[in-house]
Amino acid sequence: MAGLQKSLPASWYCSKPIYELERQSVFLQAWYLLGPVTRYADEKEVQYELAGVNFVVKRLDDENNNESFQVTNLTNVSEAALPQHPLSVDRALPHKLTRTGLLFVALSQDAPSFEDYYPGLEVLTDRFDFTELPFRRTLSYKGRFNWKTMVDGYQECLHCQYTHRSFCAVPTGPYAVHNHGHYSRHLADPSKQSADGVNVGDGLFLYFFPSCTLNRYGGGMTSFRVCPAPEGEDDPQVTRMEFDYYYARKSGSGGDGEKEEEEEEEEEEEEEEEEKKEAFEAYFRFVRRVAIEDYALCETVQANLAAGVYCQGVLNPAKEGGVAHYQRMVRDRVIGEFRKRQQQKQKGEGEGEFVEVDEKAVSH
Ligand SMILES: [Fe+2]
Repeated sequence: MAGLQKSLPASWYCSKPIYELERQSVFLQAWYLLGPVTRYADEKEVQYELAGVNFVVKRLDDENNNESFQVTNLTNVSEAALPQHPLSVDRALPHKLTRTGLLFVALSQDAPSFEDYYPGLEVLTDRFDFTELPFRRTLSYKGRFNWKTMVDGYQECLHCQYTHRSFCAVPTGPYAVHNHGHYSRHLADPSKQSADGVNVGDGLFLYFFPSCTLNRYGGGMTSFRVCPAPEGEDDPQVTRMEFDYYYARKSGSGGDGEKEEEEEEEEEEEEEEEEKKEAFEAYFRFVRRVAIEDYALCETVQANLAAGVYCQGVLNPAKEGGVAHYQRMVRDRVIGEFRKRQQQKQKGEGEGEFVEVDEKAVSH
């Protein structure tokens, strides 16, 4: 088995000290997809919590309807000050609106720039117009599993055939995951390519390191965040799953330039909106079913990881390349943070409890 990457040890999915190292070296240095611009109504705040950082996002379009955003860190702001939470330089979080309408945010000023974190990502997202998908619904609930348990499942499709029978009754032969630094692209059928060699035929499925995804297909889009050790739980074996749903069925026939009567137009618009609602509900039922199947799988896997029998295994280089890729990034950052704190301890510097990491368990 020499040369094959091992999975992260089971203990990493249950350990609070490991999560502390992850929080510092992974989560506070990362960028997060929050959603398309349509998620945000004018002047209405949307609140988030990620890795212990509370923040609000507010859309502030100018008089020419150019979108701009204010992202304010609320962590350590007193309850009394919350209604005002005046934006000051140290409370503004870095954010980026891509050219075709996706909003990303970083949790600290120490994070690398968006362009350094996701080089080349906008070349891909430019091919899709995210402003055409109205926001429909949001969901948030607790998951009894470590954040990596959910990401492991997202980053491979070996489980699809037996877990998601509704869309995957046949073996997933051509399924591929292409890794690009801090994001991965999933291709249900890699053979569907445009003339310039870019895969365009089967939707857009993206994983953003460490804990966000975007899934656009069938006229709809779902993005989810796996929020680790949520506030009030403070447990690495608990996450908060957050889903946002968008849907816009493409208009059917029409558009031939003929002017119709106003009443008729209104009636048609109402009918079209009704159809869109029904189509969204059908889309929603389907994606919820898949999410519930994944949820049940993750809870079972986490219980097994916590049982203390299994430690780690070898990752399949052909079918688990996406898992190996993101786990390598977690491992490297956690080990780096551990060594940094080890040196600080030797010099008598550093604050807080020192965490021992068994480096042999995660070396190759
Ligand atoms: Fe799944």
